[in-house]
Amino acid sequence: MPDLRWPTYANRNLQLDSAVFDGVPAGEGSLFVRDTDGRTYLDAVNGIGCLPLGHGHPRWIAAMEAQMRRLVAAAGTFFTEPQQRFAAEVAARCGLPEARSFIGNTGTEVTEAAVKLALRATGRDLILVFDRAFHGRTLGAIAMTANAAYRAPYVSTIGENVQRFAHMNVVRVPYGDLDAVRRAMSAHERRVAMVAVEPIQGEAGVYPAPREFLLGLRELCTQHGALLGADEIQSGSGRTGRFLAWSTLVGDDPVLQPDIVWLAKALGGGFPIAACVARGDLAKHMVKGSHGSTFGGNPLACAAAVATLQIMDDDRLLQRAAAQLPALREIAANDPEPRVKEIRGHGAMVGIEIAGESRPAAPLADAMQQRGVLVTVCADHTVRVLLPYRAGADELRQVWTTLRAALA
Ligand SMILES: Cc1ncc(COP(=O)(O)O)c(C=O)c1O
Repeated sequence: MPDLRWPTYANRNLQLDSAVFDGVPAGEGSLFVRDTDGRTYLDAVNGIGCLPLGHGHPRWIAAMEAQMRRLVAAAGTFFTEPQQRFAAEVAARCGLPEARSFIGNTGTEVTEAAVKLALRATGRDLILVFDRAFHGRTLGAIAMTANAAYRAPYVSTIGENVQRFAHMNVVRVPYGDLDAVRRAMSAHERRVAMVAVEPIQGEAGVYPAPREFLLGLRELCTQHGALLGADEIQSGSGRTGRFLAWSTLVGDDPVLQPDIVWLAKALGGGFPIAACVARGDLAKHMVKGSHGSTFGGNPLACAAAVATLQIMDDDRLLQRAAAQLPALREIAANDPEPRVKEIRGHGAMVGIEIAGESRPAAPLADAMQQRGVLVTVCADHTVRVLLPYRAGADELRQVWTTLRAALA
């Protein structure tokens, strides 16, 4: 059938129909999907990391059904119970003093919120970002995203009688290079409002930051009066075994935390919601009219997210997520594949890098799809496995044996 959308995505030639619920244990979400021809796939894409509970978790559905009958939309000018509960649950998990949230719908929207907050709270005009970074695709966030192909066609110019649209001052340095950060801070003394970092770079190919790098960023930001912002859109919401990848990599010491954290993807269990969470003394700079979103913080999305967080706690899903990468490494060690160069990540955020020839990841993902496993491609050499948190050795073995068969 013709694709009536804008042709902005690489086409995998697959029409998904529904999740598969046969054989799913009671009270769990499904790990499998079916296409319109009736073929079944293990889903390690999950909407690119949006389904921590799997597909159609019954408690998540029940929470949304109940909320749908109660109240679905409410303008930001009104309080609702789900919105306040959501903000409280997120604040409790982020460990920022007096945390306050802007609640949005998508990742890029909360990247933008973080930037606005940083510019207003510091009165400075520059954001420091990293090579290979991905922060979203709206016009502010693409200024921070590294891939030039995403940015080049949209550069804002000044024309006669034309106002320039929002344009961000961005300095970019290599990921992991503290000296480069130090030099940039000194070269732009008192101008850097925020250093924005993905604790694990996802789209770049699943690269966790070394702990010393994150600690060094904390120190440099404090020293130079810049804010430290963690983009946890992909790495957060429990995927690495702690609520924030920052906690997995750095720990919980209050003085070593970022100032602003932003989350999306897995946060709503598959229903769109995003949050930019900041220390209270920073959030107060976002005064009336400084930001907003019609659907942001709607009661339905908040109820979905509150249920997701509760299910994660009740079913100890973060512990199960944490076990995924070690389990895959063990499977790989017992059944080695010479063309796999490296297995990287933390918990349920896994990148498998393939050695050799140019751009092996896309054809490999296609060949795995033909054998019943869906994975995403990030960068040219890496396939990414973003399973629901309850997935375990059986599913990881299926990923591994399918990958080996596809490579053969
Ligand atoms: C680290 C990071 N930031 C921002 C985004 C953008 O999120 P969204 O696609 O929901 O706008 C993504 C999406 O992959 C991401 O991984």
